[in-house]
Amino acid sequence: MRINVPLLLLLLTANLELPAQTVAVQVNSGTEGPTISRHIYGHFAEHLGRSIYGGFYVGEDSEIPNTDGVRMDVVEALRDLKIPNLRWPGGCFADTYHWKDGIGPKEDRPSILNVWWGNVKEDNSFGTHDFLNMCELLDTEPYLSANVGSGTPQELADWIKYTTHPAGTSPMPDLRAENGREEPWDVKFWGIGNEAWGCGGNMRAEYYADIYRRYATFTSDWGNSGELVRIASGASSEDYNWTEVLMKNIPKNLIEAIALHHYSVIDWSAKGPATGFSERQYFSTMREALKMKELIEKHVAIMDQYDLEQRVDLFVDEWGGWYDVEPGTNPGFLYQQNTIRDAMLAGATLNIFNNHADRVKMANIAQAVNVLQAVVLTEEEKMLLTPTYHIFRMYTPHHDAELLPVSFDSPEYTYEGESLPAISISASRDEQGTAHFSLVNIDSERSHQVELDVAGLNLSEVEGEILTGDSLDAHNTFEAPGTVTPVAFTEAALRDGKLQLSVPAHSVIVLRATK
Ligand code: AHR
Repeated sequence: MRINVPLLLLLLTANLELPAQTVAVQVNSGTEGPTISRHIYGHFAEHLGRSIYGGFYVGEDSEIPNTDGVRMDVVEALRDLKIPNLRWPGGCFADTYHWKDGIGPKEDRPSILNVWWGNVKEDNSFGTHDFLNMCELLDTEPYLSANVGSGTPQELADWIKYTTHPAGTSPMPDLRAENGREEPWDVKFWGIGNEAWGCGGNMRAEYYADIYRRYATFTSDWGNSGELVRIASGASSEDYNWTEVLMKNIPKNLIEAIALHHYSVIDWSAKGPATGFSERQYFSTMREALKMKELIEKHVAIMDQYDLEQRVDLFVDEWGGWYDVEPGTNPGFLYQQNTIRDAMLAGATLNIFNNHADRVKMANIAQAVNVLQAVVLTEEEKMLLTPTYHIFRMYTPHHDAELLPVSFDSPEYTYEGESLPAISISASRDEQGTAHFSLVNIDSERSHQVELDVAGLNLSEVEGEILTGDSLDAHNTFEAPGTVTPVAFTEAALRDGKLQLSVPAHSVIVLRATK
């Protein structure tokens, strides 16, 4: 045989020329996996910037189509996402909020200054009734975040009675009935403060643990017969000491979940723009996003040391990308555009949550409308769906489905000598036996060939959708709202128990495979 030496040398030295390696993925369908709680796909609406006013709520007199002041285009968009829960009224705002300011006739409600977010006037025209009725309209579960920083245990106990107790049992539910709502609402999720280590009171972990015990004591009776889910204000990113002190000091009969907040911020003093960013900034955002896996595993390991029966769940009740505000907008309003980078961030993070569904039972992207990594942006009567919105819609089949654990070695996305895993995958199976696979390739340039071993699932047909864009900062605008939209993906093939496809650079694919 004649060997072509120059060609051989070229192939040996320039491995870029070699065909890409196939990523072999093992899909474990043999043992029953945990259920992926739909609450992992939760949202957050704070009195911040144009989240509530102009975003969710435009008032009954607005020309924008609304129900009791809540804009219907936003409601319909969020209904399509099947949003499972909505956290309100903050965030930092929650620890300055006195709920009694937001009930009764709107003209009688006091105005306050929103001291956390831009020092703007808050006229309390959107209050408890407005929020809980809106949740019914959205068909979603409310998550109320209580004021611990500047409130009282009495105020929290009153809010619980006002919202959830039958009329005729005490003065608070009677007041609710007088204000036009006879039937209680169903409010299961209660946050006992927010970021108590920071805007929620600058407390030490030991002090907050004691404060938490006090507040939680008055949420329900001794047996928590109201079956409330009481959520302790959790750590920021790597603050493992916070989790440890809380888990050690809070009796397990007073707590159902502990929170964790992690934002994918490059540098708090140089966050970078939401569009027109460099690849270095893209890479750094992805590094911060992928850190979520390590954060969950380390916080959960600490929780498990103090809770052998794993009764306390982890709720990642704030997560997402955080960049500089759009030029010309109020810095206190946190209004930012949303690009393919955010789609990568959302797809990879949701895969991490799915793959840790045994302990992560809720997560809330920050925030739903017009703030940070929003799924919906509005401008007067116009509304657009962001790339992050499309990821949430594509991932809806994972809600309450059985996790199918996957194992594989990811190829690397390398930038200036640093590497990250390029591919992330999660898989689930619904009650009909239909399997869904979500695959993310964060690599800025290289596609990857993937082969999933699905022999145990007896699948025969596959279809899918893909979301990608011309560039990492491709995004939708009010003038061109359809620039980044999912399209059908027809290039996956099922052969001999193997599901094969090529995942293009910076794309998210969700496949649906039936028997
Ligand atoms: O989501 C914006 C803010 O970020 C929240 O109010 C606060 O909890 C966090 O620091």
